Amino acid sequence: MDLKPPDQTGLFEALYSARALRRFTDEPVSDEDLFQVLDSAIRAPAGGNMQIWKFLAVRDEAKRKRIGELYWQTWTEYGKQYVDDPAEIDKLPKQMQLVVRSTDDLARNFATAPVHLFVCGPEGAAGTLYPAIQNIILACRGLGLGTVLTAFHRWHDAEIRELLEIPADVVPHALLPIGHPSDRIGPVGRRPVHKVASLDTWGEPWPFAEAQPDEGWRDRWITT
Ligand SMILES: Cc1cc2nc3c(=O)[nH]c(=O)nc-3n(C[C@H](O)[C@H](O)[C@H](O)COP(=O)(O)O)c2cc1C
Repeated sequence: MDLKPPDQTGLFEALYSARALRRFTDEPVSDEDLFQVLDSAIRAPAGGNMQIWKFLAVRDEAKRKRIGELYWQTWTEYGKQYVDDPAEIDKLPKQMQLVVRSTDDLARNFATAPVHLFVCGPEGAAGTLYPAIQNIILACRGLGLGTVLTAFHRWHDAEIRELLEIPADVVPHALLPIGHPSDRIGPVGRRPVHKVASLDTWGEPWPFAEAQPDEGWRDRWITT
């Protein structure tokens, strides 16, 4: 796959290649890169331009280790069948196998991500934070960093709050591990537009979308 160097990555190339990356090298994330990620996050739209987001970037090794333990605990509950018997993963359809293996690897190695970025806001405000979260994902892609939106930490909310001294009126809605990816960047595979979009009336097909290739216009932005 022919991807441009990070500083030349175009918007659409980033959109078509910013897939979930869950495996990281040991290379630290620089202050410059972290600042660029957060300075991109705050460019997101916000209801009434209230900008209710707060970010907590955790680099401290002991804290990341503890977050990793809590994340792993959730996976042992949520992904119990795969932790108890990894051969269960082999029984899944191919695409699902890749997702579950990478989710399992992340759960085992969460602490190794050099930055654990919490996106926080008031209770019930998660939706307002998602544009900022998507900007984080795209900024990481633009910088050649890997990340994935995660929510498993919410299962151990009290422990996370205590560890990071998060006040009671603030919720750590999302947690993005960020680092230099050891997996291939992109492409993002999805069900095609014509399967999820209607024209004028619910359920009515859109002929133009039906006439497009099932992988969409990926090849316009990423050459393989
Ligand atoms: C609301 C939300 C919560 C998610 N939580 C987790 C999570 O806890 N752990 C994880 O590994 N991935 C999590 N994901 C990532 C999805 O699994 C991922 O976006 C999806 O599999 C598509 O991956 P792709 O972009 O590589 O195709 C979450 C995604 C969303 C939107």
